[in-house]
Amino acid sequence: MNRLAGKRALITGGTSGIGLETAQRFIAEGADVLVTGVTPASIDKARQIFGDKVPVVQADARDLDAQRGLAERVREHFGKLDVAFLNAGVSDWRPFEDHTEDSFDRLFDINVKSVFFLTQALVPVLANPSSVILNASNSAHGGYGHSNAYAATKAAIASLMRSWNADLLRSHGIRFNAVSPGPVDTPLYSKLGIEDPAQQSAVLEAISSGIPLGRMGLPEEVAEAVVYLASDVSAFAVGQDLILDGGQTVL
Ligand SMILES: NC(=O)c1ccc[n+]([C@@H]2O[C@H](COP(=O)([O-])OP(=O)(O)OC[C@H]3O[C@@H](n4cnc5c(N)ncnc54)[C@H](OP(=O)(O)O)[C@@H]3O)[C@@H](O)[C@H]2O)c1
Repeated sequence: MNRLAGKRALITGGTSGIGLETAQRFIAEGADVLVTGVTPASIDKARQIFGDKVPVVQADARDLDAQRGLAERVREHFGKLDVAFLNAGVSDWRPFEDHTEDSFDRLFDINVKSVFFLTQALVPVLANPSSVILNASNSAHGGYGHSNAYAATKAAIASLMRSWNADLLRSHGIRFNAVSPGPVDTPLYSKLGIEDPAQQSAVLEAISSGIPLGRMGLPEEVAEAVVYLASDVSAFAVGQDLILDGGQTVL
């Protein structure tokens, strides 16, 4: 299919998990894509997967100059940008009492502050019309144990998504929407600091059993929703936060 033919798209965190799957789906739908990552091994792997056609740019979300540099790189590469999927993020679930100033700041720096200032830097680069999709989380829609600071970063993202429409839709033709996945089977779960494989599978089983559908989501199930929000058929969708979580939030 060619649902994104001719679209110039930026995908942050396009080296792994949901972002990697979405980048591949975008390319299959006819888009030209530029992706970002931060970990050298992950960037190398993505370069092997994508080959020469897709620039894989290292841009640490904790470094605001790198975010502004990324916007400039996007401008040099594409001229104008039709779609941005701002997806790069980290997860850190822990008991409320165990959070430190550093762990709190790391979550907010990567998941919120970088998205805020990258979006600001991208405004002059985004075409009129264009579509920006933010990756939030269903944890922003409920009260899940140990989600506290992480869930708050995603609630901030959902809030920014709505207010940016007020700031930028009429004046710049940029529409913002979000996806809010529930637990999705990606490498994110191997980055939670659980070393023991048996304990890791126990955690994944416990997560799956809490989902009414009985399983975790697949990256392609999120990617498909992002393709919809990126494409012109969703042009009338503005300020929506699409929850994809096997029924966890509503049941
Ligand atoms: N998986 C889930 O259950 C789930 C549920 C709801 C929402 N989400 C959200 O979905 C997004 C993607 O998660 P995922 O599950 O696909 O995780 P993932 O496989 O760990 O991918 C995370 C991506 O973000 C990038 N990233 C991490 N820290 C970064 C930094 N400091 N600077 C730049 N890039 C950085 C990673 O780059 P490298 O590969 O180069 O390290 C990677 O490309 C996140 O925002 C997450 O909060 C995930």
